[in-house]
Amino acid sequence: MIKKLLLIICTIGLFVAAVQREQKYGTKPSSTQALADSVDAETGLALDPHFAIVKAQCTGCHSPKLILQHRFTRDEWLSKIRWMQRNHKLWDLGETEKTVLDYLAKHYAPNQTAYSRREALRNVKWYPLEK
Ligand code: HEC
Repeated sequence: MIKKLLLIICTIGLFVAAVQREQKYGTKPSSTQALADSVDAETGLALDPHFAIVKAQCTGCHSPKLILQHRFTRDEWLSKIRWMQRNHKLWDLGETEKTVLDYLAKHYAPNQTAYSRREALRNVKWYPLEK
């Protein structure tokens, strides 16, 4: 009986702690909130004036995640497009090719990290743990 009571009290305690934590920190981590403003909710692609063209040309066959996962230079993006045209029936992008490449090179270049992560710690002073 006592054990059951303790269990119930612990459960309530954990629940209250979780609710308080949520209130303190918010439900969403701030890093994704910051990203969410500039990213299309449906596709995850970066929002800019060329987004609609890229969405139309590049999300018909596969998930936009295939784009989001990669970081390429403009030339490398072009060779991916040529590769899809050779092997996967991607159509001639015509006049939109330049726009699509501009967009890809701007948002998905090698220097842009795929996942946001805090900056590495600097000037860390390590100390030996006491025994
Ligand atoms: C006609 C269909 C089609 C369209 C439209 C298309 N792709 Fe693809 N794409 C494919 C196929 C098929 C693959 C291979 C998928 C796999 O390996 O599972 C692929 C793979 C990829 C990959 C992964 C390449 C790799 O090295 O693994 C990227 C990146 C990519 N596409 C980007 C794009 C971009 C950017 C566009 C817009 C210009 C686009 N795709 C439009 C068919 C298409």
